Amino acid sequence: MDLRINSFAEYQDKYAQSVHDPEGFWDQIAQTFTWQKPYSKVLQWEFDTPKVKWFEGGKMNISENCLDRHLEERGDKVAIIWEPNEPGDEVIKWTYKELHQRVCQFANALKSQGIKKGDRVVIYMPMIPDLAVALLGCARIGAVHSVVFAGFSASAMADRINDAQAVAVITSDGLNRGAKQIDLKQIVDDALQHCSSVHTVIVKNCLGWKPAMVTGRDVSWEEAVRDQSTDCAPEPMDAEDLFFILYTSGSTGKPKGVVHTCGGYMIYAAYSFQNVFQPEENDVYWCTADIGWITGHSYIVYGPLLSGATSLMFEGVPTYPDAGRFWKVCDKHKVNQFYTAPTAIRALMACGNEHVQGHDLSSLKVLGTVGEPINEEAWNWYHHFIGKEKCPIVDTWFQTETGGIMISGLGAHSPMHATHAGLPLPGIQLVLLDKEGKEIKENEVEGYLCIKFPWPSMIRTTYGDHERCKQVYFSHYKGHYFTGDGAKRDANGLYRIIGRVDDVINVSGHRFGTAEIEDAINTNELVVESAVVGYPHEIKGQSIYAYVICNEAPSNEAEARESIIAVVSEQIGRIAKPEKIQFVSGLPKTRSGKIMRRILRKIAEGEADKLGDTSTLLDPSVVKEVVEGAL
Ligand code: WTA
Repeated sequence: MDLRINSFAEYQDKYAQSVHDPEGFWDQIAQTFTWQKPYSKVLQWEFDTPKVKWFEGGKMNISENCLDRHLEERGDKVAIIWEPNEPGDEVIKWTYKELHQRVCQFANALKSQGIKKGDRVVIYMPMIPDLAVALLGCARIGAVHSVVFAGFSASAMADRINDAQAVAVITSDGLNRGAKQIDLKQIVDDALQHCSSVHTVIVKNCLGWKPAMVTGRDVSWEEAVRDQSTDCAPEPMDAEDLFFILYTSGSTGKPKGVVHTCGGYMIYAAYSFQNVFQPEENDVYWCTADIGWITGHSYIVYGPLLSGATSLMFEGVPTYPDAGRFWKVCDKHKVNQFYTAPTAIRALMACGNEHVQGHDLSSLKVLGTVGEPINEEAWNWYHHFIGKEKCPIVDTWFQTETGGIMISGLGAHSPMHATHAGLPLPGIQLVLLDKEGKEIKENEVEGYLCIKFPWPSMIRTTYGDHERCKQVYFSHYKGHYFTGDGAKRDANGLYRIIGRVDDVINVSGHRFGTAEIEDAINTNELVVESAVVGYPHEIKGQSIYAYVICNEAPSNEAEARESIIAVVSEQIGRIAKPEKIQFVSGLPKTRSGKIMRRILRKIAEGEADKLGDTSTLLDPSVVKEVVEGAL
């Protein structure tokens, strides 16, 4: 299977073709996959409702396309290399054949636990290769997986389980993360106190902890797969059947379940993977993301396996046991494509170049970044010290909702402009809109980034609440999918993502809604009201600044801060903890009672002298107090 574009001229040609005849374009690509029954229609769509159907009538199974399809040609090729948290521990390598057997066995185990097609299964696991088996096992039987990042709290997990009405949870006794260990099973037990839909918990032994098991509900992974056959016919799935749900934060309310469907997601994950990273047959590809995020779904598991690539999975963190770990792993496994986040690059850059020295990075061909805008300094360091100025950097822009990479260079074939994600992939019809929703056609402009035509891996709905999907993504600008990002276009049409224009904060590439964090803070009994904004942070990109009104001014501010951080950790997870908490007696509000976040943002950014028009404020004196107390 070769979906690869091999030159810039070919990209331009394919792009033009994809706009001129989208159905013909995607039909050709889709034909290269295994279909149990051919589709009758490539695309049907309407953005207003929204209703989008790709490859209708077709039957297929993603795990079959990830595994069975490769067995003849690449059965003995390594599919997954696993690098453990401890550098000296044993590396695991599973060939496509072995992975196929494990997935079939696990799929049979799921079935024998009474889990069937359409059931939702929450996965809360460490970055071990069995996590990939868990995803593919669900895919094989048509169960809908919803991976919850193992840094989320019990309460956050319970919300997701309840929203999805999941029937099963797959977890492990615990996990290793650098020098820390986390008791995952206990967190699952706590979450399940608040969930009645779950009948089965499968527990993988990872640390040898032997956690307490609830009779009739819990079963060990090892026991569940024992005696299971290594054959399991892939469930025929409609192209538009639910494939997975992944929860993500928006500007309002609780995180929403972004729904992806089978056929379109499959095609786009593979197509984008092969073109962005340009892997060759014997290459080793490494994406450092966690499978708990969309990047891990599309570019550790599905994109690479659909493409028959070798995907490296890493259990640990970039700075353990020291800040040279990434480079040591690149050297050890002779990594060819390396894909990470700007926040990791900045953190490692700050630790000093001595950590890069002594590691042979000559195997690297393509470097990638994802998750947030990359600043010029980090880009230059990555280019110079890691890529030795011979590797193209693909700055890949996408979202949980887009399923796959929308804007990026294609290996070495695209023009590269530091800090710019670049050009859209074929099939992706981007536009910049002004405040009134009018398309801005010229270059060297800035606007709201929208997409005007469907692509195969786009969000289909928000689980259990289609209206929300419509409101959040398709109502701001009629006939367009609104990304929530602002972007600039340079003289050559290359895009540079500026960042979110809504109330979403991106901390180290992780999305949080201000409302979600405020709701958590407000559960603290000291708190009357709060307002949260993002502010620039040298390593994390953005960090969280909370303005908090208490019942009475706290006598011990340090203690009050700790207790606020504690509720955020409990409700969401430590990853969402505010870096700065300022106690205030009032918040700047409009006469209609709306918090003026623009003002709070400026203050958090240290730009209190640029507050702009404050005449619409109910009580302008509040601002003076907030500015004076700013941290
Ligand atoms: C941001 C992560 C700049 C953006 C894949 C987007 C980026 C949000 C980039 C989605 C990039 C992602 N340059 N910003 N290359 N990639 N973003 O859903 O604001 O976790 O809307 O998906 O991350 O975050 P999500």
